[in-house]
Amino acid sequence: MRRLVIAGNWKMNKTISEGLELVRQMSMELKDVKDIDIIVCPVFTALYSVSLEIEGSNIELGAQNLFWKETGAFTGEISPVMLKDVNCKYVIIGHSERRSIFKETNEFVNKKLKAALKTGLIPIVCVGERLEDRQMNKTFDVISDHINGALQGLSADELKDIIIAYEPVWAIGTGRNASPEQAQEVHAFIRKMITDNFGASVAEHLRILYGGSVKPENVEAIMAQPDIDGALVGGASLKADSFVQLVRLCLPQGC
Ligand code: 13P
Repeated sequence: MRRLVIAGNWKMNKTISEGLELVRQMSMELKDVKDIDIIVCPVFTALYSVSLEIEGSNIELGAQNLFWKETGAFTGEISPVMLKDVNCKYVIIGHSERRSIFKETNEFVNKKLKAALKTGLIPIVCVGERLEDRQMNKTFDVISDHINGALQGLSADELKDIIIAYEPVWAIGTGRNASPEQAQEVHAFIRKMITDNFGASVAEHLRILYGGSVKPENVEAIMAQPDIDGALVGGASLKADSFVQLVRLCLPQGC
């Protein structure tokens, strides 16, 4: 049985004080939750303060990006060691916004993934097709390319420590989520790829999250799918009410 994950990707939102206010409310209202991994991914500047605020709670910390070198002349970048230094446990890698706006390639994603694993961070690796890919029936080609590119050179053993997030680009921030069946189809495809390349036990263990307009209104139907093991949430993670509600709806008696 895979443990559910609900991760909030705050993107470029929240000052330190706003972030603290948000996690304070979340941790108060979710303190009894034991069966779900709850993760928040604030902006870099708020990571340390948030880490102190959630210390001892059931909320864990993730970053939204990293660079693959440890130190050096890489102006504006943050290393995996620095993320560990501010108590991060997870890091999002290859988000579609990074791929499209900042031109991150599969090669970047692969390097970042390896650097995260080497440092003991749990990568949340994002994959997903654009609307035009889907319209041209290229969804599975794009997903294969993202998965193969990201996981190139990794061992089955290393795969045990990663999380994959399927985020169709057309569903991100649009209010238009993939239908549970559309999402399940891609999740099953990803799990089959992992089975074929790394073996059935790794695939069975791997957690695959769905992301793209997840909200309290649709989370139960999405989570009811057999290969969907949680959600990577943008907009609905920016308000305590909606995030708390989302997590609660995913508790075992919920979905
Ligand atoms: P929304 O939930 O706002 O669609 O964002 C999804 C996302 O990109 C999470 O990483």
